[in-house]
Amino acid sequence: MTKTATRLENLQPYFFAVIAQQLHQMRNSGIDVIALDIGSPDLPPPPGVVETLCKSASKPDTHGYTGYRGTPEFRKAVARYYKRRFDVELNPDTEILPLLGSKEGIVNLSLAYLDRGDTSLIPDISYPSYSQGARLAGGDIQWLSVNEEDGYLPQLKDLQLDKSRNPRILWLNYPNNPTGAVASNAFYADAVAFCNDHDLVLASDNPYVDVTYDGFEAGSVLEIDDAKQCSIEFMSFSKTYNMGGWRLGAAVGNAEILKRLLQVKSNIDSGHFQSVYDAGVVALDETTSDWIRERNNVYQRRRDLIMEVLQSIGLRASLPLGSLYIWAQTLDMDGSRYVQMALEGAHVAFAPGAAYGPGGEQFIRISLGIADNRLIEALDRLKHWYQSQ
Ligand SMILES: Cc1ncc(COP(=O)(O)O)c(C=O)c1O
Repeated sequence: MTKTATRLENLQPYFFAVIAQQLHQMRNSGIDVIALDIGSPDLPPPPGVVETLCKSASKPDTHGYTGYRGTPEFRKAVARYYKRRFDVELNPDTEILPLLGSKEGIVNLSLAYLDRGDTSLIPDISYPSYSQGARLAGGDIQWLSVNEEDGYLPQLKDLQLDKSRNPRILWLNYPNNPTGAVASNAFYADAVAFCNDHDLVLASDNPYVDVTYDGFEAGSVLEIDDAKQCSIEFMSFSKTYNMGGWRLGAAVGNAEILKRLLQVKSNIDSGHFQSVYDAGVVALDETTSDWIRERNNVYQRRRDLIMEVLQSIGLRASLPLGSLYIWAQTLDMDGSRYVQMALEGAHVAFAPGAAYGPGGEQFIRISLGIADNRLIEALDRLKHWYQSQ
């Protein structure tokens, strides 16, 4: 076999692809594993979405290429959503770019902005695609320390920027995967000022904006004056509308950054076929706030079920106000060992905190995207396993 590219030396296989393979092998040998590791919503999309896909796909003229920027109707529907939800005006022709899921855009943004010797600023507990994208681009990472006391928000006022490392992108994500932390508009205003002052791209990754609890309402960085000078935001249909497998998202905001992102991605992908965009329009236009609230109530109930038993399974956590996860600290072993032992002893899968950065070693991440009956069984198994050790 010929030699692989040098860039693979710095790129670990994607954590969830590795664990999925392990779970597959366990299931093939007859073990009933309950997966609380991956954040894939278990509930169906809102009414009308699937019907629209089917109707649209049954037409003969919806199967060609749609162009590199999706359909105008889809972009206009994203603009309507931002106006209605955040009172933010977006130009559908220049300030909205459809994506094949937000992960695609996240990784491609690094290809657009990082050369060798350039740096991304990334909270040291964060969604892995920010750092993996930087590595793939050949860039460097400056980890920003975050902790529970500061609400997992990087302290930008204390941050010393080393200009010789060519900082290019600041990554933010609130409501946060994996910590469940949320950000205020005051924090976003500071982040926008920081990025404008230091000539950085502010990349706000916001897939959980509509997955919140206890009445909390999350916002968009684009609500801040001057945000559009330096920011784009990634939106996703995966979590808001339970459409993870559809691979539909968008990047919105600064027109020049979106142009550069398009320059990369139009060389890599050719968009979805029309019916996916047609169904996306229905998700954006017709999903009611009652539907979102009821769905969030389901997650909130699961969150509370888990919180109740945490101590009895050797974990502690603060109550998340958003996202699909509980970020739990392990009390008597490190996170990776806990994950391995729970998988072997209770056949329950978690994500180890170390997969989210150097600050995550004493943590595990628990997903709420699992049917209630399976969750209850998982918690029973975990209690037996932990107490019989
Ligand atoms: C913080 C964060 N960003 C982005 C994504 C990717 O979402 P998508 O399905 O839109 O690619 C995820 C998925 O879990 C996520 O947690």
